[in-house]
Amino acid sequence: MLKGRHLIDPMDFTLEEIQEILVLSEEIILNPNDYSDICKGKILANLFYEPSTRTRFSFEAAMLRLGGQVIGFSEAISSSVSKGESIADTIRTVGCYADISAIRHPKEGSSKIASQYSSIPVINAGDGGHQHPTQTLTDLLTIKSIKGNLDNNVIGICGDLKFGRTVHSLIKSMSRYKNNKFVLISPKKLSIPDYISKEVLKKNNIEYLEIEKMDDVIKDLDILYMTRVQKERFFNEDEYLKLKDSYILNKEKMNKAKEDMIVMHPLPRVNEISYEVDEDPRACYFEQAKYGMYARMALIAKLLGVN
Ligand code: NCD
Repeated sequence: MLKGRHLIDPMDFTLEEIQEILVLSEEIILNPNDYSDICKGKILANLFYEPSTRTRFSFEAAMLRLGGQVIGFSEAISSSVSKGESIADTIRTVGCYADISAIRHPKEGSSKIASQYSSIPVINAGDGGHQHPTQTLTDLLTIKSIKGNLDNNVIGICGDLKFGRTVHSLIKSMSRYKNNKFVLISPKKLSIPDYISKEVLKKNNIEYLEIEKMDDVIKDLDILYMTRVQKERFFNEDEYLKLKDSYILNKEKMNKAKEDMIVMHPLPRVNEISYEVDEDPRACYFEQAKYGMYARMALIAKLLGVN
């Protein structure tokens, strides 16, 4: 039963519950009109303390397309947070006005704290460099729809694996399906944190390789998940400048990849995928952004118990 639950970490839901959300997403894609007013009279509060385009707009669009309404803020400065209000008090207040809330915050663990004080379901829309479980629902729906299978994939993840919260949530989730292997491509300074490599990959005996060069492995991949170097998480600008162009996926590299490899990216892209790759039928990052709206429609409907 997903009604009334929070989604803070991808492991909060069982594989069966995730499957329920994916199945509903697919049904909504096929028959959007059947779902266009199931959230009539319901309100989503979007509390975004950090910049966002896709996540915030896709949550908004999702609620509007379900017939509900949206309130919220897109920068903390315009709310009472700028007067020093805690997230615990903000969410208790928001619970008086809204039925469900999506929270993005620069501090790791903030949506978890909010959920502990909340009378309404809280969805983690990204907490610092930690987790981003709704991006992962988006990614799972994309992989299932385009590759057809969440099992048996060789998944290359490239870029900022240290601070990239989408990566942490994706690895946690894809590790639960059968026979997936990971190729983790990053500069040493941006390698995957221990809590993912030890607690998730090693603990579950998942096959993985950590490597610095993409050229050596691109031919083996079924999925290539590119990420941006997370500028806002660096303490030192020089360090960022040194690492920011570590990887640039271009046509030449794509020529070495499998015919049916797909390229994903949570977006925003900075420099890590050249525009020439956009024309390649294997590039599916904008489709992925669209799947994000459907995954969030299904998630909202399930947490509100309207479906
Ligand atoms: C990601 C995020 O915010 O973590 N964006 C998104 O939600 N689609 C990735 C990023 O900002 O690099």
